[in-house]
Order: sequence, then C-alpha cells, then structure tokens
Amino acid sequence: MKQLRIGIIGVGGIATGRHIPAFLKLAETVKITAVSDINHERAQQTADQFDIPFVFNQFEDMFPEVDAVVICTPNKFHAEITIAALEAGLHVFCEKPMAMSADEAGRMMEAAKRSGKKLAIGFHYRFMKEARAAKKLMMENEIGQPLVVRIQALRRRKVPGWGVFTNKELQGGGSLIDYGCHLLDLALWLIGNPEPVEVSGTAYNTLSRQPDAVNMWGSFDHEIFEVDDHVTSYIKFENNVSLLLETSWAANVEDDKEMLSISGEKGGMEVFPFRVNYAKHGMLFNSSAAFLPGEEDYGLEQARNFAEACRGEAELLVQPEEAYQVSKIIEAIYKSSETKSSVKF
Ligand SMILES: NC(=O)c1ccc[n+]([C@@H]2O[C@H](COP(=O)([O-])OP(=O)(O)OC[C@H]3O[C@@H](n4cnc5c(N)ncnc54)[C@H](O)[C@@H]3O)[C@@H](O)[C@H]2O)c1
Repeated sequence: MKQLRIGIIGVGGIATGRHIPAFLKLAETVKITAVSDINHERAQQTADQFDIPFVFNQFEDMFPEVDAVVICTPNKFHAEITIAALEAGLHVFCEKPMAMSADEAGRMMEAAKRSGKKLAIGFHYRFMKEARAAKKLMMENEIGQPLVVRIQALRRRKVPGWGVFTNKELQGGGSLIDYGCHLLDLALWLIGNPEPVEVSGTAYNTLSRQPDAVNMWGSFDHEIFEVDDHVTSYIKFENNVSLLLETSWAANVEDDKEMLSISGEKGGMEVFPFRVNYAKHGMLFNSSAAFLPGEEDYGLEQARNFAEACRGEAELLVQPEEAYQVSKIIEAIYKSSETKSSVKF
C-alpha cells in the first residue's frame, strides 16, 4: 500500500510529544516526509531526531512533498495555513482550537468543502475510552433526552508558563480557548450537536495579574497577562438543553478537577471516570464499568483515524462543522463577558 506522506508544520511541544510519535507508530501506511517551523534550528533538530527527510522554512514549500499536513503552530496561524494547504489539494489535521474566531473557523470549513479534502481538528478527548463509551450509551438512548450538562475543567494554579499560551494576539484567549474547548467539544458531540440559541459568560483574569501569584507550571509576566484564567458560562440550546461550563487554569480550588456530567430524563452519566446512574424499580443505582473497550493511547487513535480518513477508509471522528460550533460558542462567551450581556444566535 502506498504510504500517506505527512508534513508537520510547527514542531513544538505537541508535534514532538504527541503527533510525530503517533504517526511513526503507523509506519506501514504513513510516512512523515517533511517538517517546517519558523524556528529553523528547531525544525532541523526535529528532522534529525526523527529521521525526517525534508526541512523547510516556509510551510508552502513542503506542499509538493506531502499528501497531508499536521498543523501545530500557535492558534493565530491555524486558519491561514489550513486554507492554503486545502487549496493546494492536501488533507489537513489542525490542532485545537480550530481557530481564533468563528469567522476564521467558518472559512476553514468552507475551504474543506470546496476542496473535497479532509479537515480534522485535534479534539483528542473524543478518542478517550470513556468518551467513546459515553457516546455509545448516548446513541443507545441509555439516559434518555439530555437535559442539563455540567462541565468543570479546572486546574489549580497551573497557567502554562511556556510557549505562547498567555499571548492573546497569538492564541486568542486563555483557559477557555485552550483547555475548556476540549470538554465543550466533547459535551456538544455527546448531546448530538444541538444549535445554541443563547450564551452568557464571564471571563476573569484577576488571579494571574497578582504580582505574587503561585503558579505550578512555569512562569509568566503578571503585568502583561491579558488572557482569561477562569471562565464561567451558561449555554442554552434550541432543544432546551442547558450547559453549565466552568474552566480555569488558575482556580483557587483544593485540587484539579475534570468533570463532564449529563443529566437526562431517564438517567445520568459522568464521563471521567465513566459512571452511569439511574432510577429503577423504586431504587437508585450508580454503576461503573468493569471494562471499557478501546485503546489507551488516544493520540495514536486520533492519528489512525486521520490517516484512515485520508485514504477513504473511515469517517473523521471530529468533523469541521462540529469544531466550528465550538469556536462559535467560545467567541460568544468572550463577547458576552466583554459586553456584560448574553449573546443570542
Ligand atoms: N490537543 C491538545 O491537548 C494540545 C496540547 C498542546 C497544544 N495544542 C495546540 O497545538 C498548537 C501548538 O502548541 P504547542 O504547545 O506545540 O506550542 P509550542 O510553542 O511548543 O510550538 C509551536 C511551534 O510552532 C512554531 N511556529 C510558530 N509560528 C509558526 C508559523 N507561522 N509557521 C510554522 N511554525 C510556526 C514555533 O516556532 C514552535 O516551534 C496550539 O494550537 C495549541 O493549542 C493542543
């Protein structure tokens, strides 16, 4: 079988830590042929480390050498590079969040439709065993119509102090666009992507602007900290589902907490760890799974899904239209916080 030739654009933490090792495990069907980074030294080092033949300064220069690209740059460049690659006839895997704004995400989605090529977005939580199990039960109507969804994606004093995570111009925001986006995407997928009708939210960055704030994940300049480190939101959908979201890089909580629960008309579920609860025969039950099918390595599963989709052997698990909705809601949360009023669609 002809190998799918992949090029990696932006070879920082996520490219070298997750994507390159994952695609290397698929060596029978995939070959990483090129890397590109504005930091040429880093690109060359990565090529040497992983035995990748071509190194380019300009991302466009790799296009003739590849069938697909994996975009791992700061968020600001996701739209530009994705659209250029799709227009050059390549498949694209773009890291999350899809883009900095709904407009950019919409243009990426349209470019994918026009090109007929695949566009995957790196919402890797969907590939976790717990998420697959939750989706299966939702499809089986195990808890009935979902009513209330709760998300807490909270880190205690862990602002990522490396790279450009606190740079608003390059990333578009902080804890919500970087971390909360994963659980928001997962929740929307689990409840079948209903249309949002109204969004309200509040974004804070009080804590990280304090000169002496304790931070467990590196350091940053509190004087120019301009992104959100804690966000709350209420999202109402056309089918009357409500979603309560709280996400933070730097909460004053006892411990980190990652929680997604869905309360439905017949029962409820928690995704992490995976549990189901329901009422039956006049009794209340809580059950946990003794075995969940699937692979532990969700990074590998994500890479495999992309490679198979490029070959026409599988559907992408994360579709551009779904990732666009995440960007639309995130933008609305930020707008609601700025304007101190809800955003209606
Ligand atoms: N799925 C996840 O959980 C997850 C985790 C971490 C990061 N990410 C996403 O991956 C992306 C990169 O994050 P990271 O942690 O690897 O950042 P990073 O700072 O470690 O790496 C980014 C790399 O991109 C390069 N770069 C910057 N602008 C470029 C351009 N225009 N063209 C080519 N290269 C360019 C930089 O030199 C750097 O090497 C971000 O969008 C981030 O949100 C996703």
